Amino acid sequence: MKKINVGLIGYGFMGRAHSNAFRKVANFFNLEYQPVLKAACARNEEKVKAFAQTWGYESYETDWRKLLQRDDIDLIDICAPNDVHAEIALAAAKAGKMILCEKPLARTGPEGLKMVKAIEKAGVPNMVWYNYRRVPAVTLAKKLIDEGRLGRIFHYRAKFLQDWTISPELPQGGAGLWRLDVKVAGSGVTGDLLAHCIDTAIWLNGSIDKVSAMTETFVKQRKHNLTGKVEKVGIDDACAFLARFSNGSLATFESTRYARGHKALYTFEINGEHASIAWDLHDLHRLQYFDHRDEGKLRGWRSIHVTDAGGEHPYMDKWWVPGLQIGYEHSFVHQVADFLQGVAEGKPAGPTFRDALETQYICDAVLHSGKTGRWEKVKKV
Ligand SMILES: NC(=O)c1ccc[n+]([C@@H]2O[C@H](COP(=O)([O-])OP(=O)(O)OC[C@H]3O[C@@H](n4cnc5c(N)ncnc54)[C@H](O)[C@@H]3O)[C@@H](O)[C@H]2O)c1
Repeated sequence: MKKINVGLIGYGFMGRAHSNAFRKVANFFNLEYQPVLKAACARNEEKVKAFAQTWGYESYETDWRKLLQRDDIDLIDICAPNDVHAEIALAAAKAGKMILCEKPLARTGPEGLKMVKAIEKAGVPNMVWYNYRRVPAVTLAKKLIDEGRLGRIFHYRAKFLQDWTISPELPQGGAGLWRLDVKVAGSGVTGDLLAHCIDTAIWLNGSIDKVSAMTETFVKQRKHNLTGKVEKVGIDDACAFLARFSNGSLATFESTRYARGHKALYTFEINGEHASIAWDLHDLHRLQYFDHRDEGKLRGWRSIHVTDAGGEHPYMDKWWVPGLQIGYEHSFVHQVADFLQGVAEGKPAGPTFRDALETQYICDAVLHSGKTGRWEKVKKV
């Protein structure tokens, strides 16, 4: 088995999810390449050392620039907040490393475009972690749509709801709360949550031409953890938008961090001429499917338990026996597996940086429309 030495930057939520995926992938997938946990990197030496030990990294660094200089690192995995994605990716491309980058690709479209240009110039394998594509039920939805089972698609409906920023006492900025600081995050729910909904949507249903959005910042000022001062909040706390897909279908998207009772409720529903599909992250191993062509007396919504290891359900032949479900973390294992398979075959695994730029441009159009109150066209990639 050929080795790919990984240098991972950031030991937070995604640093753990990715490390878990790198560790497991070769146990479950039969691949030509195997990731090696070579070095973990973050600024706090004590913490990064402990993280490296816990997850089995051979070494650690406290400055990502040093990590990039190392000849024994083949692949850089960016799991740090959004404001450093571009800087690290540009330098990593220059150093000729393969690059995996967390979503959103960048804070804005222009920043993302620079990253796409750099990586394409360097010609290195790359991918962005829009992991929901690889939840087996979502991958199955893609398969059913591509087989034409839904027929012409009329509607796409997506939501991503949370409730963790309702308190006005919650500060912005710094560890754990960088998502509330617009300089670091780039935007609020649009770049953080709707970006996921958009990536899935354009993968399943094609490109979006124009959008009309409303955005709101419910809490206008918060104490900043780094300056200690009360500062204006620059992120969108909530965003709802209408969209027109190039295939003629109509869409609604909604996201908020103010939906009391919801922690990570990502749902989508697609209505076609013959059939409809619905999916819910809280029940991620199920795909709801209704087919109008079913025999009348049996017609109804079916709840498909996507656990058939016999080869019919995507990725499930790699795990347990039929009926035993897998979870959130497996989507990352699948994404690493597809990336490594792509490296072996010389074919990029999506979403590439260029694919993710499309999502970035849609986010830009949404945020712009939220300000102008008008329909805005989406820039073409
Ligand atoms: N794919 C997904 O579903 C998903 C889920 C959560 C987060 N994300 C994305 O992953 C990225 C990280 O989010 P998170 O939730 O893991 O954040 P986090 O706050 O849990 O962790 C961020 C890590 O980055 C480190 N870091 C910050 N600046 C750094 C620097 N200059 N050099 C080195 N390390 C640095 C921090 O020390 C921390 O270890 C973000 O871009 C976020 O949007 C994606």
